[in-house]
Amino acid sequence: MLIPPDPIQRFSDLFERAKQAIPVDPNAVVVATVGADGRPSARVVLLKDFDSRGFVFFTNHESRKGRELLAHPFAALCFYWQPLEEQVRVEGRVEVVSDEEADAYFKSRARGSQVGAWASLQSQRLGSRDELETRVEDVEKRYAGAEVPRPPHWSGFRVVPDRIEFWHSRQSRLHDRHVYLREPDGWHAQMLYP
Ligand SMILES: Cc1cc2nc3c(=O)[nH]c(=O)nc-3n(C[C@H](O)[C@H](O)[C@H](O)COP(=O)(O)O)c2cc1C
Repeated sequence: MLIPPDPIQRFSDLFERAKQAIPVDPNAVVVATVGADGRPSARVVLLKDFDSRGFVFFTNHESRKGRELLAHPFAALCFYWQPLEEQVRVEGRVEVVSDEEADAYFKSRARGSQVGAWASLQSQRLGSRDELETRVEDVEKRYAGAEVPRPPHWSGFRVVPDRIEFWHSRQSRLHDRHVYLREPDGWHAQMLYP
């Protein structure tokens, strides 16, 4: 098989197939970050945008992942689309998206999610469910009859890829692996042993 030259186009084609094949959250992706002590942590987020600039997800910047990414701006993403037997791994530097981009996405969210973004002190210790519900009621009162603005601590991260690997399952675990490395003159692809 000839390796397609553009990994972003290849991701886009695959993602279209994933959306057809996977009814719920085909955009779910594991994101790994690294803490100040060198300890990795991983969790699922939803991919909300991608193009040649990178892969975007939104979160609370005071959460564990938020703090880790602001202090050490590198991440790894891992998609697994079981019905397609495909895995995609993306690695690179992380940037915070522009305020305009974050505002536009925040506006598109359901009001309940907008309220939740203010009410949840994501990844901090919660004393009781009541405490959270009281915070939700307070936010609802504060913005009653008005638009809910985007909290300053809630925005997007863009993973700017310098390495993208496509893995496709093959018989006897002799899988295909194509890794793309970004060089100053563009993407270079090579195969890896499975
Ligand atoms: C399917 C799925 C989608 C999720 N999407 C997001 C998301 O887009 N943003 C987010 O902050 N958390 C999302 N979460 C919750 C995270 O996995 C995680 O619990 C939370 O962000 C706190 O992570 P942290 O303590 O490492 O920062 C999602 C979880 C699941 C299972």
